[in-house]
Amino acid sequence: MNQFERISTNSEETGQFAAGLAELLHPGDIIALEGDLGAGKTTFTKGLAKGLEIKKNVNSPTFTIIKEYKGRLPLYHMDVYRVADSYEDLGFDEYFNGDGVTVVEWAHLIDEQLPEERLTIFLYRLEEDRRKMVFVPTGNRYEELCKEIFK
Ligand SMILES: Nc1ncnc2c1ncn2[C@@H]1O[C@H](COP(=O)(O)OP(=O)(O)O)[C@@H](O)[C@H]1O
Ligand SMILES: [Mg+2]
Repeated sequence: MNQFERISTNSEETGQFAAGLAELLHPGDIIALEGDLGAGKTTFTKGLAKGLEIKKNVNSPTFTIIKEYKGRLPLYHMDVYRVADSYEDLGFDEYFNGDGVTVVEWAHLIDEQLPEERLTIFLYRLEEDRRKMVFVPTGNRYEELCKEIFK
C-alpha cells in the first residue's frame, strides 16, 4: 500500500503543511482525519481552511457535527465523534457529492458511509509538540494528489 509520512515539530508547521495541501485540492475532494484527542485534527483543518482562503475562524464543530465555510472552495468540516451510531445518516452524501472539500474528523466512525476513494491522514502524537502524519490515499485521484504533495 502506498503511504507517505511527514513529521511536524509544532502546530504552525502542521498548519502550514495543511495550507499547502489546500492549494492542490479540487471540488469534491474528501479528507478523512484520524487520531486521538489532541493529535491535531482540528489544527490541520484550520491550516487547510487558511489555504482555502477562508477568513472565518474554524473551530471544532462539537455540537453541530457539520460546519460549512466559504473560501476558494467551500469547506465542509465534520466532526463525527458524537454521531450516535455509524449508520446514523445525517445527509453526509450531499456534502461528499458537493462542490466543496470535505474534511471528516474521526472518519472511521462513519466508515460505512464514507466514499471509498479519499485521502486518509493519520495523526500520531509523538511528544508534546511533535506529530507524525501518515497519508494513505485510496483511488487514483488521491494517489496523484499525494505524489503532488510529496514531490
Ligand atoms: N505539531 C503539532 N501539530 C498539531 N498540533 C500540535 C502540534 N504540537 C502541538 N499541538 C497542539 O496540540 C493540540 C491539538 O489539538 P486539536 O487540533 O484540537 O486536536 P484534535 O482535533 O485531533 O483533537 C493543539 O493544542 C495544538 O496546538
Ligand atoms: Mg478536533
